[in-house]
Amino acid sequence: MTGHEKAEPLSLEKLPYHVAIIMDGNGRWAKARGLPRVYGHKKGVETARKIVLKSQEIGIKYLSLFTFSKENWQRPKAEIQALFQLLEEYLLKELPTMKEKGIRLRVMGDKEDLPENLQEVIDLAEKETRANEKLNLILALSYGGRAEILQATRKLAERIKKGNLPSEVISEELFRQFFYLPDVPDPDLLIRTGGEMRISNFYLFQLAYTELYFTPVLWPDFTEDEYLKAILDFQRRERRFGKVYEL
Ligand code: IPE
Ligand code: IPE
Ligand code: MG
Repeated sequence: MTGHEKAEPLSLEKLPYHVAIIMDGNGRWAKARGLPRVYGHKKGVETARKIVLKSQEIGIKYLSLFTFSKENWQRPKAEIQALFQLLEEYLLKELPTMKEKGIRLRVMGDKEDLPENLQEVIDLAEKETRANEKLNLILALSYGGRAEILQATRKLAERIKKGNLPSEVISEELFRQFFYLPDVPDPDLLIRTGGEMRISNFYLFQLAYTELYFTPVLWPDFTEDEYLKAILDFQRRERRFGKVYEL
């Protein structure tokens, strides 16, 4: 302790282990300023950078960022291209910081859908940060919750067929082994910025008992303080998981 630390009102014992964020509102942020949507994405990348670093600093173990959904492929080509370009730049620029700060980058989704040069940068960042353990940074890219459940079901069906196994072997545990990142625990807290109160096909199966936090703040305006506010709100909640707690 140097005595210079700012007093943090967070209770470190009750930190969410896994925070998932639906980063929404970039387009509206830009529109409100009379700018093309891409400017919102540009500003959004800056927010993401700050929230990643804050997560590392306070000791969050898993941070999942919904970056590009399966459904986002229906957007104009130019917007998609600009988004991937921004992402590639972010990864290349931040790789040294990730290495220095013990951040492990992982991508969740159908990676093979992505442009090849982006795939290469992802592979590089994943490889070079593989041994890091401080924070797992999960980028959901070409990800859809329903697509994840369906592909898991297909793989499981193959396993059952090949092994000539009875359907009774299918347990929740076995099913989860076919998810994109089977070792990642369910999110404790889901934050959605931008004011919409929906899941938009993020982590469908995994969100069953996640605490949900919605804020009207647009993603480019989301600050570290707003982030801490969400975590504080989480810390005041009682998670019951269907059980009864006697008073
Ligand atoms: C979120 O911002 C970023 C992505 C979905 C890639 P949007 O681009 O959805 O912004 P709004 O919701 O139109 O404001
Ligand atoms: C969810 O935002 C996807 C990401 C943040 C990557 P959308 O903007 O795509 O969601 P909808 O269309 O409002 O449901
Ligand atoms: Mg949106």
